[in-house]
Amino acid sequence: MFGRRSSDGAPQRRVVPQQQASAPVAEVQATVQASRPVPEHAEPQRRHSEEYYDVKTTVFNALIDTIDLTQLAKLDAAAAREEIRDIVSEIIQVKNVVMSIAEQEELLEDICNDVLGYGPLEPLLARDDIADIMVNGANTTFIEVSGKVQKTSVRFADNQQLMNICQRIVSQVGRRVDESSPICDARLPDGSRVNVIAPPLAIDGPALTIRKFKKDRLKLDNLVKFGSITPAGKTVLEIIGRVRCNVLISGGTGSGKTTLLNCLTGCIDHDERIITCEDSAELQLQQPHVVRLETRPPNLEGEGEITMRDLVKNCLRMRPERIIVGEVRGPEAFDLLQAMNTGHDGSMGTLHANSPREAISRLESMIMMGGYALPVKTIREMICGSIDVIVQASRLRDGSRKITHITEVLGMEEETVTLQNLLVYEVTGEDANGKLVGRHRSTGIARPRFWDRAEYYKEEGRLASALAAAEVLDSHGNPLGESHG
Ligand SMILES: Nc1ncnc2c1ncn2[C@@H]1O[C@H](COP(=O)(O)OP(=O)(O)O)[C@@H](O)[C@H]1O
Ligand SMILES: [Mg+2]
Repeated sequence: MFGRRSSDGAPQRRVVPQQQASAPVAEVQATVQASRPVPEHAEPQRRHSEEYYDVKTTVFNALIDTIDLTQLAKLDAAAAREEIRDIVSEIIQVKNVVMSIAEQEELLEDICNDVLGYGPLEPLLARDDIADIMVNGANTTFIEVSGKVQKTSVRFADNQQLMNICQRIVSQVGRRVDESSPICDARLPDGSRVNVIAPPLAIDGPALTIRKFKKDRLKLDNLVKFGSITPAGKTVLEIIGRVRCNVLISGGTGSGKTTLLNCLTGCIDHDERIITCEDSAELQLQQPHVVRLETRPPNLEGEGEITMRDLVKNCLRMRPERIIVGEVRGPEAFDLLQAMNTGHDGSMGTLHANSPREAISRLESMIMMGGYALPVKTIREMICGSIDVIVQASRLRDGSRKITHITEVLGMEEETVTLQNLLVYEVTGEDANGKLVGRHRSTGIARPRFWDRAEYYKEEGRLASALAAAEVLDSHGNPLGESHG
């Protein structure tokens, strides 16, 4: 144990005393009494009252004065919790705080989370149904659950506490966030991605965004179950993945690009050597022969950065059969296209765009901004020669995620890249609950451009029947073709 009890029952300072003198007990006691009473029969999930926060602050401050945090950090989590539990119970007793057992438990839990973990974030981090946590300053926290963003009652004591938690998160990966370096990316031990932007850049207090790591990434079958794609569409995707088409997955933030990429990699044969390049490792490939690479931001002195481009270039010297790029956002686009063009077919990547057409122009501008003095036509030819299929993911306004296009890159007509939709999703209406109603259908293309590849892999029969099954007939029994509207 950390210390001993003095005869009058007041908790003594433990381990190494801290520098600052603690507030006189009488004064603290007065604060606690003034802020009472805490409701006796409070529900565990309720929003805490102001009193609760006052009591917590008082107990918390007394705790901090009593223990030495650096010593505490040397204990394992369970022992540290036990120690805090003892001291907090003691403080509650000494200070005559009136609380029910349930409230005490809650207070203990809260305080342990503050001291040892990520404070008020802990309950959110523990929930598996949350996709994103968005903290906008100490008093406002939103979460995304099943595609819908909702406000929570979670709040931090103040921006300083929030900032401390941010700092605790980023220091685990050797980074720092403060006024002089107010932007920081990091990762939680469980793989969740974290971004912090602090004041003065964030005007109303630190903004913390966490994309929770999904332990079980969705499979194509899940996407079918959610109605993101039809069974026939799933078959088309599986064939595209297997027959080594070069694929670009396009979509907005949170539209399901990474999920889809992960699904597509599931169709890769087990004897292929795959190299993945990501900013933060998210993909979960099941194949035995995978090398995973991750970029590195510059260190505190601004040195040592390894960019996506460095990784993709290095990949080429590693004898990959397929290269998978988590997210293409810059000049690495050029290297990826070259790789696709030179025998690494079956490579894949995602990119931020709202339609297949926009995906092409994004690629184009990434290459131009990379400083290549190439004529636009040449860049477009390069794109046509590299990308076979663009799969578009979208998050619709009702929160549902759909695969809205499976589109082929056909070639060039004059200066323009021609695209051909194989499968599209169209919204046909809205039901009484505001849910969008729509359908996936084929555009009537019976022989996609990758037909030969499909034949080579003996997948042409399956491809033909999947495309036929995706047809939707009009009122005269004729297949609905490509709409021109
Ligand atoms: N088709 C889908 N249906 C329901 N949820 C999905 C679907 N695709 C992805 N998600 C969920 O949406 C969140 C964001 O997905 P992610 O693939 O990381 O998006 P992106 O890479 O486009 O930012 C994740 O929590 C994921 O599980
Ligand atoms: Mg992603």
